[in-house]
Amino acid sequence: MKAAIARKHGGPEVIEIADVPPPPPLSHPSLSPDSVLLAVRAAALNHLDLWVLRGLPGLELDFPHIGGADMAGTVAEVGAGVEGFAPGDRVLVNPGLWDGECEWCLKGEESLCQSYRILGEHVNGGFAELIAVPARNLLPIPDDLTFVEAAAVPLAYQTAWRGLMRRAALQAGETVLVTGASGGVATAAIQIARHAGATVYAVTSGSENVRRVRELGAEHVIDRSEASPPSPPPPPFSEAVWKLTGKRGVDVVFDSVGAAIWSDVMRVLAKNGRLVTYGATTGADAQINIRHVFWKQLQIIGTTMASRSEFEQVMSLVFAKKLEPVIDVVFPLERAREAYERLASGEHFGKIILTVGD
Ligand SMILES: NC(=O)c1ccc[n+]([C@@H]2O[C@H](COP(=O)([O-])OP(=O)(O)OC[C@H]3O[C@@H](n4cnc5c(N)ncnc54)[C@H](OP(=O)(O)O)[C@@H]3O)[C@@H](O)[C@H]2O)c1
Ligand SMILES: [Zn+2]
Repeated sequence: MKAAIARKHGGPEVIEIADVPPPPPLSHPSLSPDSVLLAVRAAALNHLDLWVLRGLPGLELDFPHIGGADMAGTVAEVGAGVEGFAPGDRVLVNPGLWDGECEWCLKGEESLCQSYRILGEHVNGGFAELIAVPARNLLPIPDDLTFVEAAAVPLAYQTAWRGLMRRAALQAGETVLVTGASGGVATAAIQIARHAGATVYAVTSGSENVRRVRELGAEHVIDRSEASPPSPPPPPFSEAVWKLTGKRGVDVVFDSVGAAIWSDVMRVLAKNGRLVTYGATTGADAQINIRHVFWKQLQIIGTTMASRSEFEQVMSLVFAKKLEPVIDVVFPLERAREAYERLASGEHFGKIILTVGD
């Protein structure tokens, strides 16, 4: 089958299109009888694909590696133990893999599973014509949702949903600051925060992004882009947020930019504020002023992916068109390297998608 593969670690330049063996037959002992063979029709990139390509501490890839956590397609074959799905069904895939047996799975907290893994990271992903996945990871998609739209949502929307709604317990009437606002998860977060009845502040780069972030529902948008010399660099975004909130600050910050902005993030939080951290794009060793934490009585809350039930909740809002996938650009699988390059350049707004087949 055709796939976008990496034979070694590196940047987008190591991505190549190759013919690789398809997944083993569903009766193979390496697969559970509850597996399904999916004909992938669309798959989305996530920043995760860049981290995996570069190499993550403790992650041993089996080369050639196929990336891609997010995918949608049609069921091609079902294993002997599968109920409720048949060949031809249009589905999207939850990219989280859990064992269903550990303390956390038994509590319905699948993303805390002791052996939690992600498609395209710990095992091969969806930048290929075919993939075998557990049937419990599938959700049927409505006829009016395209494969491209369906592939854009699973990872980003579940991360934003759990982070804001479950971990931060965001309430209507609260204020939220979303950083890195043009990103895949951030564009989902802006919509989810609006859906929850919160007022959204956002930081992004460039006037076109400012316009699009406003269109998504952010009321106050700050441009972080560097002014060109001899103009002075823009002041830290905390100054703007401080002014805009009448020196109160915001109730929740939703951040994955990480180290480069954490001191600013601590400043913009209101008393009793919550920082939800879901990534560290600019680095993981942040400086924090502990006095901000105890004096303002802040909470720092980590979040990763979502439980199975949270995933289903947020997908039902997408299926009902209450949340709309933000698509940056669609490339055929053959142009996967360009897709990785665009993600690495940071010029995208929302999700970059690869289509597979015709
Ligand atoms: N914990 C989890 O479950 C989970 C899930 C998904 C993603 N993540 C992590 O979260 C991060 C975002 O993922 P994504 O897929 O949404 O990524 P993405 O689409 O690449 O978005 C990242 C955004 O961060 C902003 N940014 C990048 N470099 C920056 C810098 N130097 N200074 C300030 N802002 C910068 C940019 O937005 P602007 O130009 O608009 O500022 C960029 O669009 C990644 O680190 C990813 O690994 C974690
Ligand atoms: Zn488990």
